[in-house]
Amino acid sequence: MAVKKAVIPAAGLGTRFLPATKASPKEMLPVVDKPAIQYVVEEAVRAGLEDILMVTGRNKRPLEDHFDRAVELEQSLEAKGDENKLALVQEPSDLATIHYVRQGDPRGLGHAVLTAADHVGQQPFAVLLGDDLIDFRDTLLEQMIAVQEREGGSVVALMEVPADQISLYGAAAVESSDGDVVRITGLVEKPAVEDAPSNLAIIGRYVLSPTVFDVLRRTPPGRGGEIQLTDAISELIDTEPVHGVVFRGRRYDTGDRLDYLKAVVRLAADREDLGPPLLDWLREWLPTR
Ligand code: G1P
Repeated sequence: MAVKKAVIPAAGLGTRFLPATKASPKEMLPVVDKPAIQYVVEEAVRAGLEDILMVTGRNKRPLEDHFDRAVELEQSLEAKGDENKLALVQEPSDLATIHYVRQGDPRGLGHAVLTAADHVGQQPFAVLLGDDLIDFRDTLLEQMIAVQEREGGSVVALMEVPADQISLYGAAAVESSDGDVVRITGLVEKPAVEDAPSNLAIIGRYVLSPTVFDVLRRTPPGRGGEIQLTDAISELIDTEPVHGVVFRGRRYDTGDRLDYLKAVVRLAADREDLGPPLLDWLREWLPTR
């Protein structure tokens, strides 16, 4: 069955970015000049997923406003004849059909995904985590969808990370393979460095079989007292194929302050309008530090 729906968990409190996230969602933090969440929605749409469910919570109204029409602003730009800005305002609301569900109690990523069960129904679906941005020139999600359609079951995005960083992620045990597609034999959420089965980290892209909902309904709280998506997928391995696609492209982590700053600089440096003057300035300024 074709993958048509995407779920974007966006209920997190974003405490790593306080005070910026006190009154506005972390997903709205600009990466250059676009909120982080818009990159994620655009990625889903590029992969052919135009039915998107966002799992939100309290204080997330700006997300809904961002993907809705802004009638007064549009009228005022129209009256001024400012076509460029008008297009920028209209773009997010024209991207996809976006639905919203609230998570209620914040009981973890697995619980957030479970709130999507009714909307998703009995078909495979994608999950995109907003803290991980995948460069628009890379095609990770498309590749994962193709693997799911060929092999069935579920597919998880993996990336090699330095061994000492694996405890920040879900880690995968895999059967060795030459290519980028591996068979996953085990998953563990944020293991201690010495317990990690490999340095292959789960990055926030999944294409999941709907069976995951049945498992999530009975998954007990795991690491950090939260219902972990990693634990549920790990259980799927007993009954269904679970593959990993090892990503070797450009990923930007916007969930951490330093990595967020790097993402802004890297993406701005690649832009035609901002890149050349930014790089000129950096070259001049860095030697003075
Ligand atoms: C979540 C997942 C983890 C995964 C990570 C990717 O953790 O639980 O398995 O490696 O996203 O970004 P979080 O970063 O939300 O704590």
